[in-house]
Amino acid sequence: MKISVIGCGYLGAVHAACMADFGHDVVGVDIDAGKVNKLAAGIPSFHEPGLEPLLRQGVERGSLRFTTDKTALAGARVHFIAVGTPQRGGSYAADMSYVWSAVDDIIANATPHPDGPIVVVGKSTVPVGTAGAIAERLAEAGVDAVVVWNPEFLREGYAVQDTQRPDRVVYGLPDDREHGEIGRAVVDEVYAPIIEAGIPRLLVNYPTAELVKVAANSFLATKISFINSMAELCDASGADVSRLAEAIGHDDRIGSKFLQAGIGFGGGCLPKDIRAFMARAGELGVDQSLTFLREVDSINMRRRDHAVELAAQMAGGRLVGVKVAVLGLTFKPDSDDVRDSPALDIAGRLWGRGANVVATDPAGADAVRLARPDLQIVDSADEALAGADLVMLLTAWKDYVELDPAHAKSLVSTPRIIDGRNVLDPRAWSDAGWDYRGMGRRSSSVW
Ligand code: UDX
Repeated sequence: MKISVIGCGYLGAVHAACMADFGHDVVGVDIDAGKVNKLAAGIPSFHEPGLEPLLRQGVERGSLRFTTDKTALAGARVHFIAVGTPQRGGSYAADMSYVWSAVDDIIANATPHPDGPIVVVGKSTVPVGTAGAIAERLAEAGVDAVVVWNPEFLREGYAVQDTQRPDRVVYGLPDDREHGEIGRAVVDEVYAPIIEAGIPRLLVNYPTAELVKVAANSFLATKISFINSMAELCDASGADVSRLAEAIGHDDRIGSKFLQAGIGFGGGCLPKDIRAFMARAGELGVDQSLTFLREVDSINMRRRDHAVELAAQMAGGRLVGVKVAVLGLTFKPDSDDVRDSPALDIAGRLWGRGANVVATDPAGADAVRLARPDLQIVDSADEALAGADLVMLLTAWKDYVELDPAHAKSLVSTPRIIDGRNVLDPRAWSDAGWDYRGMGRRSSSVW
C-alpha cells in the first residue's frame, strides 16, 4: 500500500522504516532538509538500536523515500501524522501548530484514491478532542477522508520493537459506523503483520484513543514519583527505597517495573505529556481530576533539587570550585536524547553554583554541546573521574553501572559518590572506601 508519514522525527522516522519493512511503499515528508537528506541516505538522525538496517534496506529496495516536497503526498491511500507536539513556550499546553500544518499539507497535496476515501492516521500525542477537529477540518475542505487515531507507545531504545510488536494497538474510530469500518479495514491492512500475530487490538472512539496515550504516560509518571516520594520518606526514616520497591513489587497488583527511585523522569514524553494533560483538563473544566499530576510533577522536580543539595552537603556546604565528575547526561541510557534530561539539568545547576563540572556520556555528548556549550564534556568516565572531588552517576549507562570502585578510587581526588539512579552496590562501594550516597538508600546497613 502507498503510505505517507508526515513528520520524520523520532516517531515518524521509526514508523516509516517499520512500515516499509512491512512491505509498503512509504514516503516520509519533513520540513527539515538536513534530517531528510540523512534519512534518504539510510542514516538515522538519532541513536536507536535496529533502526539503521531497516532504513538502509528500505532505501535500497526503493520502497522507502524521504523528501521535503509535500507534493509527494499525492497518490497515497494512508497518511500518518507523526509530527511533534512539544510543550508550548510559557504554558503547559501542547503546541499543536505542527499537527495543523500537517493537516493543511494533506488538504493541499493529497489526491483522491480509487479504492475509497483516504485514511488519515494520527499518531502524535495530542490533547483530547483533536481527532474530531481534524476530521471536521478535512470535511470542510472537501477532502474525502476517514480519520483514525492510533496512538504510539514506543519507548526510546526499543522503538523498532515497540512499533513492530507492540503490547497492543488502539484504533480511535469515527462514530459513523460505515466510515469507521473503512478506517479499521485499511489500518488492519497496513498493520497486517501485527494483526496476524494476534496482538490485542482495541477499537474505541476518538477521545478514548487520545486519552489512552496520556493516561498511560500519566500512570507511569505517577509510579515513578510515588517511589521517589517513598525515597524522601526513606531518607527521613533510615529505610532503603530499593529494598522497599523490591518488596512491594512482588505484589502482582503493583508490579516491579517503573519503581526505580532516583533523580526522576525526563525525556520528550512523560514531563510534557502530563503537563499538557493538566492544561487540557483545565480547558475541559475538570482540572481537579488531575491535580495529583501537579504533585507528580513537583515530586519529580524536587529530585533534582535534592541531588544538587546532596552534592553541596557532601562537598562541605559549597560547590564553588568543587570538581564534580558527572557520569551520564541523557534522560535515560541507550538514548542520545537530552530533552528535559534530569541529568543535564543537574549538571547545569551544579555549574551554575560554581562547581567545576566535568561530564561524560556515551551518546549524548553532541546534543549537550549544542544545548549547553558551557559544560565541559570529556570522552570517557576515566577522564571525567580524574582528580574529582565528587562523582555523580546520573544516567544508568551499563559502563557506569559496571564501574569498578577500586579502579575509580585510584583516579579521583576524594572518593565521594552520589548514585543518582540507585544502580550501584552500596556495600561494594562503601567497602572500597567510598562515601556512597544513593537516593533514599542506605549506604551501609546490615540488612
Ligand atoms: C515513555 C513511555 O515509556 C512510552 O510508553 C511513551 O510512548 C513515551 O514515553 P521514554 O520517554 O522512551 O518512553 O522513556 P521511559 O523508558 O518511559 O523513561 C522515562 C523516564 O523515566 C527516564 O528519564 C527514566 O530514567 C525514568 N524512570 C523510568 C525512572 O526514573 N524510574 C523508573 O523506574 C523508570
